[in-house]
Amino acid sequence: MCGIVGYIGPREACPILLKGLHRLEYRGYDSAGVALINNNGNLSVYKSKGKVADLENHINDKDISGTIGVAHTRWATHGEPNTTNAHPHYSQSGDLALIHNGIIENYKPLKQEMMNQGRTFQSETDTEVLIQFIEYIKEEQGCDLFTAVQLALKNVIGAYAIVVIDKSNPDRLIAARKGSPLVIGIGENEFYIGSDATPLIEYTNKVIYLGEEEIAMMTRKGDLQVVNLENVAQTPLVKTLEMNLSDIEKGGFPHYMLKEIFEQPDALLNSMKGRLNTEEKDVLLSAIINHRDRIMKAERVIICACGTSWHAGLIGKYIIEELTRIPVEVEYSSEFRYRNPVITDKDLVIAISQSGETADTLAAIQLAKDKGAFLYGICNVVGSSIPRATDTGSYLHIGPEIGVASTKAFTAQVTTLMLIAMAIAKEKQTISKEYFHQLVDELQSIPEKIRRILELNDKVAKYSKIFTYARNFIYLGRGYNYPIALEGALKLKEISYIHAEGYPSAEMKHGPIALIDEEMPVVVIAPAHSKYEKILSNVQEIKARKGKIISIITEGDTAIKELSDIYFEIPSTIDCFTPLLTIVPLQLISYYIAIAKGRDVDQPRNLAKSVTVE
Ligand code: G6P
Repeated sequence: MCGIVGYIGPREACPILLKGLHRLEYRGYDSAGVALINNNGNLSVYKSKGKVADLENHINDKDISGTIGVAHTRWATHGEPNTTNAHPHYSQSGDLALIHNGIIENYKPLKQEMMNQGRTFQSETDTEVLIQFIEYIKEEQGCDLFTAVQLALKNVIGAYAIVVIDKSNPDRLIAARKGSPLVIGIGENEFYIGSDATPLIEYTNKVIYLGEEEIAMMTRKGDLQVVNLENVAQTPLVKTLEMNLSDIEKGGFPHYMLKEIFEQPDALLNSMKGRLNTEEKDVLLSAIINHRDRIMKAERVIICACGTSWHAGLIGKYIIEELTRIPVEVEYSSEFRYRNPVITDKDLVIAISQSGETADTLAAIQLAKDKGAFLYGICNVVGSSIPRATDTGSYLHIGPEIGVASTKAFTAQVTTLMLIAMAIAKEKQTISKEYFHQLVDELQSIPEKIRRILELNDKVAKYSKIFTYARNFIYLGRGYNYPIALEGALKLKEISYIHAEGYPSAEMKHGPIALIDEEMPVVVIAPAHSKYEKILSNVQEIKARKGKIISIITEGDTAIKELSDIYFEIPSTIDCFTPLLTIVPLQLISYYIAIAKGRDVDQPRNLAKSVTVE
């Protein structure tokens, strides 16, 4: 969850590292630090609590010279977010410095062992234990740092992406990973390291995604050596990044979140490109074409995901069951992995993850793999762990999502699930040809409809301010829009810190109705579809109890419109595609309420974009 940056080469390292930290700040942001081997040979570590800007202020008057260094933004796991617990951590001698993303699970016995050897600790972190352990092995065995890192990691249980520098050898950078991602960017006699590719793309598009349990040594001469924990040489695969700098900049928007909300029409077009063929009236997913037999034989689909991706999975269940008649279960990865679920080789397990790194989802698919299920990944970050661990999959192709609250990834995940459902339904002939063609045409028109909804931006901004007083919100939706009620509530919670609950509309009378009074805003997601009349009754029940009704309705609606305090209209579409439209005003509502409350929408407190710990 933390951000990692490293550099070795001919240039001044510190500006590169700090810029990289800014790019990664969305991953974790409770403290930050940098370690540099200065031009005079000193190893300097500077750290501060808070954001990267606080670190920049702190190092204003310090020696930040040096052409090798590492830097880190932290999302605290062991020990509170303060300067002492911030990374990088020194070894006892002060000769080595280390940054780390992940968790060393056996840090307690290792720490005890190190303390028995007379080593003292400054911080409460598992990371400091690791660097002390590496130095201990180096001294005990009289080996070089590269070997010491290998030996130490062989004794470590847990997940790590680490980068180590050594004062006595300023011409060498060492990195390793297991469970947490690490990308190496290759320049001209220089190397960049990042916990994802965003800090590298302005310098190089040649990258290596370090593999599980691999250790890399990079030298100032431009040599790169990669071995596994058994010291067997590995041949790294150099890939070309397809990201642009503009993908990771705000492009004139005040926040990444707003930019990403507005990117949705183009994002969905990109997700559908080459997959939805309106001329031939077809859906072509290479994953399904290449694994046709295995996927068509599936007797059950199990979707594993967390957070917003789980909500996308729930919509996936509705559409896959409706179109293909294959039963679908949607599981929280964290529950699934620990509850001894029934999994067989007739199951198709779909893992949904924007980051492709979520630890619980990774563990869930590992479990499913061991039981013989076929694994399909739906991820955004290319080269991340989940796509590599699954049998096949579909990338979202929407560019990086940087705002911590997921928006464009959600709609692209839902779109991809719809494509999967349509492709299977066509193959299995579980829907009529006419309906299939209608779905193809309608899905193609969704991006344009989202563009029209985005024109509501000013109206949403104006009315959202009214609700900054609220301490609670209720979101209600039925059928395909029940998951949207959950997702709308989650968005509000994440960035405004207002408590919100999503419910299936009909469940309101089984509890939430007790909360409704003149202060309670109730967001009713009520596009025109077969259950419209039922939602209308719910709205009347809320009105009778003086609740404040904010509705999302289809253009041309009159009944719910009249009962609403505020309404937002969306274009009409087929029932199963309504979630792609109804979520957009809800994203904007959350954004503008959070802004009105002065929240940091791109980096809300305590959250992280990529949850690489369980
Ligand atoms: C975190 C993020 C959420 C995201 C969830 C799952 O909680 O803040 O936005 O939905 O992780 O992440 P994934 O990368 O697996 O989709």
